[in-house]
Amino acid sequence: MKVVALGTINRDTIRTPDGKVTESYGGLLYTLLALASLWPEASVYPMCNVGEDVWEAVASLLFSLPSVRREGVRKVPCKNNHVSITYDEEGRKEEVLEGGVPPLGWEQLEPSLDADAFCINFISGFELSLDTLRRLRRCASGTFFMDFHSLSLGLAPDGRRFPRRPEDWRDWVALTDVIQMNELEAELLFGKPVADEEEVARFGEEVLSLGPRILCVTLGEEGSLLAERTSEGLRTGRFEAAPVEVADATGCGDVFLAGFAVEYLRSGDARRASKFANLAAGLNATFRGVEEVVNLGKLISSNGLSGAKR
Ligand SMILES: Nc1ncnc2c1ncn2[C@@H]1O[C@H](COP(=O)(O)OP(=O)(O)OP(=O)(O)O)[C@@H](O)[C@H]1O
Ligand SMILES: [Mg+2]
Repeated sequence: MKVVALGTINRDTIRTPDGKVTESYGGLLYTLLALASLWPEASVYPMCNVGEDVWEAVASLLFSLPSVRREGVRKVPCKNNHVSITYDEEGRKEEVLEGGVPPLGWEQLEPSLDADAFCINFISGFELSLDTLRRLRRCASGTFFMDFHSLSLGLAPDGRRFPRRPEDWRDWVALTDVIQMNELEAELLFGKPVADEEEVARFGEEVLSLGPRILCVTLGEEGSLLAERTSEGLRTGRFEAAPVEVADATGCGDVFLAGFAVEYLRSGDARRASKFANLAAGLNATFRGVEEVVNLGKLISSNGLSGAKR
C-alpha cells in the first residue's frame, strides 16, 4: 500500500488565553505521522516543500519512522510557512501566516501517480493549483481524500487569514472521493449551519452531486457527521467524539483525515472509518505537540480499540 500525504509542514507559534506560547511543527506532519503510525505496513510518501530555515528540525521528525519515504519532499530556498495562532477564551482562533513555500509542481507529483491513495490536506491552501490537481486526478487511479481546510481562508496583505467562500469551491471538491471539512468551513460553503444529520443530508445532496462519494463534517468535541452515496441513495450518520481529557486540540482535523483514510482503505466502510477517525483524532487531543503522534497506532491497539476489529 502506497499512500501519499500532500500538504504543508508548518512552523507553528500557538498562543492560548492563559498567556502560554508554544512553538512546534505541525500541519501535514500530523497527517503523515498519524498515517505511518496507524498503518505501519503502508509506505507513506509525504509530498511537500520545506523551507531551508526549518529543514533540519523537520527532516528529523519527518523521517523518524521507517515507512516514511523521502522522494516527494524538497528542501526549497525560502522561508518556511510560519503560522501564528492565537486562541481566545471561546476557543476561536486567529491565524497569521508569514513566509511560504512554493506550490508543488507536476514533476514532483509524477513519480507517485501509482499510489493507492492520496491524502490532500490544504494546510496553507496554496499547495497545488487547480490545474495541477485536475491533472493529478486524471492521471492517478488511487482513492482521493481531501481536507478542504485553508481553501476556505483568504490571505490579507499583512498575513492575516480570513474566512471566505472561494468562488470555485465546487471545482476543488469535484476532484476527490472523500471530502472533509469542519463545521465552520461547511457553513461557509453551504451558507447555512451543518450541525445535524438533517443538515448534512441537505448539504450532502449538493456536495455528493459534484463527484465525491463521501462527505465528513467534523464538529470538534461533538464528533462528526457523515453523508455517503450508497446503492440505496444518500445515507447519513452521526458519530461521537472520544471522551478524552484535552491537552491540545491542534492537529485534530489533520489526524481525523489520516484515521478516516486508513480505516476506509482497510474496510471500505465509511461508518467504521468515521468511528476510527474520531478515536484517533480524540487521542491526538490528549497529546501536546506533534511528537507523540507516532505512538497513536500502539496506543489504539494496546487498548483493544483497533479499527481492524470487526
Ligand atoms: N475536544 C475534543 N474532544 C474529543 N475529540 C475532539 C475534540 N476536538 C476535536 N476532536 C476530534 O477531532 C476531530 C476534528 O476536530 P475539528 O472539528 O475541531 O477539526 P478542525 O477544525 O479541522 O481541526 P484543525 O484545527 O486540525 O483544523 C473531531 O471530529 C473529533 O473527533
Ligand atoms: Mg481543519
